[in-house]
Amino acid sequence: MATSAPLIVILAAGKGTRMNSARPKVLHEVAGLSMLGHVLRLAAGIDAAKLAVVIGPDMDDVAAEIARHAPGAEVFVQQTQAGTADAVLTARTALDAHAGDVIVLYADTPLIESSTVAALRQALDAGAGIAVLGFEATDPDGYGRLLTASDGSLIAIREHKDASAEERRVTLCNSGVLAFRVPSLSAMLSRIGNANAKSEYYLTDAVAIGRADGIRASVVCCPEDEVLGVNSRVQLAQAEGLWQDRARRKAMLDGATLISPETVFFSFDTVIGRDVVIEPNVVFGRGVSVADGAEIKAFCHFEGARIGAGAEVGPFARLRPGTDLGSKVRIGNFVEIKNSVLGTGAKANHLSYVGDGSIGPRVNIGAGTIFCNYDGFFKHRTEIGEGAFIGSNTSLVAPVKIGRDAYVGSGSVITKDVPAEALALERSKQEERPGWAAKFRSMMARRKAAKTG
Ligand code: UD1
Ligand code: MG
Repeated sequence: MATSAPLIVILAAGKGTRMNSARPKVLHEVAGLSMLGHVLRLAAGIDAAKLAVVIGPDMDDVAAEIARHAPGAEVFVQQTQAGTADAVLTARTALDAHAGDVIVLYADTPLIESSTVAALRQALDAGAGIAVLGFEATDPDGYGRLLTASDGSLIAIREHKDASAEERRVTLCNSGVLAFRVPSLSAMLSRIGNANAKSEYYLTDAVAIGRADGIRASVVCCPEDEVLGVNSRVQLAQAEGLWQDRARRKAMLDGATLISPETVFFSFDTVIGRDVVIEPNVVFGRGVSVADGAEIKAFCHFEGARIGAGAEVGPFARLRPGTDLGSKVRIGNFVEIKNSVLGTGAKANHLSYVGDGSIGPRVNIGAGTIFCNYDGFFKHRTEIGEGAFIGSNTSLVAPVKIGRDAYVGSGSVITKDVPAEALALERSKQEERPGWAAKFRSMMARRKAAKTG
């Protein structure tokens, strides 16, 4: 059989009881993306002929997640969880319609890299009928053991519960990822029985059945970290940690400086340019990109934001979805920005809320400026023209427009549009009473003396 685009089968029918959750296990997230999403993205990077996903009954939200990431995938519902071989056979129509290789992935194993899947496919090209992704387990308890012959070929996979004491001493384990190049996988899997400790149809039995038919199985090894299977929230946190370490390393190798990498958290889709400096304690939610040379100071939180080249953000800044910062923009401490575009060189350096705004280049937003964008029912926009200066402690009551190069005096509550080049002031006139302070102090001192004396 010639190498051709494979059929990928993803097993996601497990309830994940040990997650102790109302949510199906595979929807729990690593780096802001469901574990299933990670595996679907891995599958998308493979030149698959078809993608089949096996889910359990009543998993509409899992089906929705599949539709979101892989609209072309075919979804099969396994009514009862009778084992991994039964799960793959649930996709029988897809198996029978496909003449080439089949790759099985688990939706709860989110850290596998595409190069590893490629290595597995190379094993098929090298003549194996079944290629199993194995790893050396620090603690092999619970895993299927890979029983190999002296020539390195695989004899069988023995599930932990069925293994003898001697077999249990084997530390080379099954990750769950398998690739097949056999004449008919469904015919092969139909021969698997359930006479075992769990009374389940084990996909792993395909190895011994194949060997009896003269089909060679081989093992491809990968680091244990990559095949971490998530069954509990403890393992979910482990997967997150491993993913973050990988992302930090990649960001640094790609040319970003992370002063304290272990305190920076990325999302699955974070994009970081070259010569970006990220200070400690920064969290990147989904959908953030940082262009070359930008500086992110300590303690920032970003989500759905684009940060332009050479911008300076933080410390303690919060960028929410729809934020688009042009190049050389400066955002300082305790500034929150939502759904707003800031042009080149615009500044909001202290204590401001900027929501639903279009802010031109070189605009200065003074300390404590608030965009009053919400009237309790609707959101409204604020537009500020190029070069305008908004004095400190200004409230801009939207919808409102400030013309280019205009000034707004500090403390103003601006409810009407301000023309270009104008000064807008909205505050009561200041009054001075000369000598008042001294008189006040002596009057109060007399009162105090009368009281205590
Ligand atoms: C499986 C392997 C074991 C391997 C381990 C790695 C088998 C028989 N055993 O064991 O060799 O070391 O994974 O983690 O394959 N699933 C279904 N339907 C079912 C049963 C399972 O969709 O009827 C899915 C689960 O959702 C999960 C995957 O298949 O994504 C593995 O099932 P699980 O029950 O976790 O298998 P293990 O006992 O861990
Ligand atoms: Mg498992």
